[in-house]
Amino acid sequence: MSAIFGIDFGTSNSALSVNENNTVRMLDVDRGNPISNSLKSILYFLKEDGQTTTYVGYEGVNKYIENGADGRYMQSIKTFLPDTAFEKTSIYGKRYTLEELISIFFRVMKERGETLIGRDVSDLVLGRPVIFSEDRERDRIAQDRLESAARLAGFKNIAFQMEPIAAALAYENSLSPGVEQIVLVGDFGAGSSDFTIHKAGKHAGSRTGREKDILSVGGVYIGGDLFDSDIMKEKTAAYYGKNVQAKSMFSDNYFGLSPVVIRNLLHWHLIPQLRRPATLNNIKELKVTASFRDKELIGNLENLIEANYGYLLFQSIEKTKCELSGRESSRIRFHDYGICIDEFLSRDEFEAMIREKAAAIDTCIDSTLADAGLKAADIDVVFLTGGSSYIPLIRGLFEKRLDKDRIRSGNAFTSVAYGLGLYGSLMG
Ligand SMILES: Nc1ncnc2c1ncn2[C@@H]1O[C@H](COP(=O)(O)OP(=O)(O)OP(=O)(O)O)[C@@H](O)[C@H]1O
Ligand SMILES: [Mg+2]
Repeated sequence: MSAIFGIDFGTSNSALSVNENNTVRMLDVDRGNPISNSLKSILYFLKEDGQTTTYVGYEGVNKYIENGADGRYMQSIKTFLPDTAFEKTSIYGKRYTLEELISIFFRVMKERGETLIGRDVSDLVLGRPVIFSEDRERDRIAQDRLESAARLAGFKNIAFQMEPIAAALAYENSLSPGVEQIVLVGDFGAGSSDFTIHKAGKHAGSRTGREKDILSVGGVYIGGDLFDSDIMKEKTAAYYGKNVQAKSMFSDNYFGLSPVVIRNLLHWHLIPQLRRPATLNNIKELKVTASFRDKELIGNLENLIEANYGYLLFQSIEKTKCELSGRESSRIRFHDYGICIDEFLSRDEFEAMIREKAAAIDTCIDSTLADAGLKAADIDVVFLTGGSSYIPLIRGLFEKRLDKDRIRSGNAFTSVAYGLGLYGSLMG
């Protein structure tokens, strides 16, 4: 009797499946999470009584909030995988590589999973996006780092499968026996949008003949995190001095926050990097020269960096974005840490903000179809999964190509992990 784990390490949510004797089930590794069978991909380090404790998932989120954003909170860790500039980070004086950080997260998943099934597991199928980076070398480094992290966590035999192919296997598994379909799978996550075209059903349940079932794969590194950044850019960054211009003390030129400061401000996980002396100098200089009203905005930015509450701010932004999937308008509200943000946001405005990114996704759908030698009309069914597939503009990319009744969706947060478990049965 063998057991293989399947881990979908997502930018914002992860999930674990187990394949025991070719039967796959999801393992609920975070009972506190309202999204069942899913674990928030966060790490939280807190020094308590001289000891550093690490938390993951919902417990980590809650502890971080309880402790008033104290300690070190890490989110979207997957995003750093292709980033060769990320070597080590120091947490309470101890230096960690990215692999070590991710291995802490994997180890928790492994241990919780093993407790649930009552046995040790050393075999793993690990998901990966179609593209970590357009640069081949960085893409390879990203996968190698992920593999090292799994090894450090105690896994011995590690296989990879692409996330959309795993989702395709999960969809195929839901078909009645004998049904054959050409399926276009779209997995829209927090970090990437991935596609595969799959000839589903023909070899269901069989190990052989499957190589030709995957007709094409495609992906772009665009996902829900970037949509949150767009909202920050257009609606809330102005509260932190994004548009402030002040006259230089040394010339007649005007200057504002540097492009690096603005870039970091727009990405939640980069806000802590604003503590670097070079960026702090730019901020201080601007504050000294800015008008009275603008000084207050730069003060807000200093406070954001100092109190490190970017996570909570982005949570409000993300909440508004999710609400817009179900209604025409919403408000971004954040009243904490001495700032009061209340901004109206309509779905139309949001769609205008992300239009260019949606166009890039649209192009990727076209090229995935072209690589398979197919037209939209040849697709029997579109299967959408991943949290960002709830966004109406994203669904619209498929509705313009196919009748609505051919567009299905399901298990937004677990179909990839489930499919990775199914893949465990197909390996030699
Ligand atoms: N109702 C909703 N409307 C819009 N976006 C949503 C909704 N629910 C979740 N999301 C977004 O979906 C993303 C999370 O989806 P998911 O868990 O599939 O991603 P992930 O697997 O962690 O990321 P990736 O696969 O890219 O690494 C987040 O960006 C979240 O804001
Ligand atoms: Mg995902």
